[in-house]
Amino acid sequence: MEKVTVELCMGSSCFARGNAQTLTLIEHYIAEHNLEDRVELIGHLCLGACSKGPNLKIGENTYCGIQSECVLDLLVQALQKAETQ
Ligand code: FES
Repeated sequence: MEKVTVELCMGSSCFARGNAQTLTLIEHYIAEHNLEDRVELIGHLCLGACSKGPNLKIGENTYCGIQSECVLDLLVQALQKAETQ
């Protein structure tokens, strides 16, 4: 099964705007559901779009200004999609 890649901007602006919380949520979710071999978490330095942040990517999709709680839904959807591929 394909891994789902989650790329978070860990630059100071995105980190302060919500990616710090998003990172914690995702890490907990992965641990709780034993998804270590299904999700690849990657951190980036500033992606150069701070004003649109917090910025992140799940698979091929880029998301800007998304709340942490919504990111988990997007991750679940991406995992379900990866299962059917
Ligand atoms: S800190 Fe994330 S785009 Fe600059």
